[in-house]
Amino acid sequence: MSLANKYRPQTFDTIIGQTHITEILKAQMSTHKEMHHNYLLFGPRGTGKTTAARILAKAINCLDLQDWNPCNKCFNCQTINEGKTLDYVEIDAASHTGVDNIREEILDRAAYPPVNLKKKIYVIDEVHMLSKWAFNALLKTIEEPRDNVCFILATTEIQKVPETIISRCQVFNFKKVDKKEIGKFLKSICEQEALTSTDEAIELIAKIAEWCVRDAVKYIDQVSVLWNIDEHHITKFLGVASETLIKDFLSLIQTGDTKIIFEKVDDIHNQGIDLHNFAKQTLMHIDQIFLEDIEFSTNISETFTDIIGSIRHYPYPTIIYKVAIHKHLAKNKNK
Ligand SMILES: Nc1ncnc2c1ncn2[C@@H]1O[C@H](COP(=O)(O)OP(=O)(O)OP(=O)(O)O)[C@@H](O)[C@H]1O
Ligand SMILES: [Mg+2]
Ligand SMILES: [Zn+2]
Repeated sequence: MSLANKYRPQTFDTIIGQTHITEILKAQMSTHKEMHHNYLLFGPRGTGKTTAARILAKAINCLDLQDWNPCNKCFNCQTINEGKTLDYVEIDAASHTGVDNIREEILDRAAYPPVNLKKKIYVIDEVHMLSKWAFNALLKTIEEPRDNVCFILATTEIQKVPETIISRCQVFNFKKVDKKEIGKFLKSICEQEALTSTDEAIELIAKIAEWCVRDAVKYIDQVSVLWNIDEHHITKFLGVASETLIKDFLSLIQTGDTKIIFEKVDDIHNQGIDLHNFAKQTLMHIDQIFLEDIEFSTNISETFTDIIGSIRHYPYPTIIYKVAIHKHLAKNKNK
């Protein structure tokens, strides 16, 4: 089992970085127990939407809520966890089977009362992928509210969901997760897995995951075979640069010695570091130290933005770097 699945939160309280959502959902569990909402969860990938949808489905049905979290022990929680009830249906609209028979398989059956749960729950993941026809069928279904049916829709692309659907749902906006929170989460996974890790390595992973918790956990998974997660391993196995390397590279550019800089570019490339990622990481770093030298930060971020703009379409990434850096040096020499 992947670490991302193993450490998928099972309660509202263990979802990180989304308390603005989980607090409201818990409050709903505590106040209107007989609510008739449909939900739309949207936001960036890997931030907890599918996870929250499953927790919400259990909370709505749980027979023994624990501080407004699903207990994960009662009959209802367990049958949902084990996928043993027809009253809980999860559809991935991104897959063909999800869309082809949504009408017959799902929406027509929504009319019947639940068999063994309190409420029938339909989770439609990647809902933006539904066809126009399927959206119309869905709309018809959620237009007639039924007490014992609830739809939980999740998507990364809310702009592709028709207004008519959005307006019939309670909408929750998932946020990118702060790298400090991700770092804490990773640290606790490492402890539970008995992996040793350095703070620098955890910080680096949290940073390159760019606010996506799933990617962060996936990176830990990838390097976990080494048991020892340090900056050196991360650099080597994930093809990313350490903070030190980025700082050194920027200092080199400031010295203006073309030959040494170009050698360093080749060297970074030969270490197996992805130069597209390297440019992104460098920009992130500049953003953090911008005020230290505004003039340099401005010029160099323009240079790296140029690099990112062209690097994907060009077979020799080192040349892109060299051309951009040469232009940068020439421009600054004339000043
Ligand atoms: N907010 C979070 N708190 C804790 N773990 C999280 C969070 N978000 C994501 N994860 C981790 O990432 C994995 C994937 O999360 P999930 O499937 O909920 O993301 P998602 O928002 O639905 O992503 P996508 O948009 O790609 O479908 C989870 O199993 C869990 O390990
Ligand atoms: Mg999802
Ligand atoms: Zn329960």
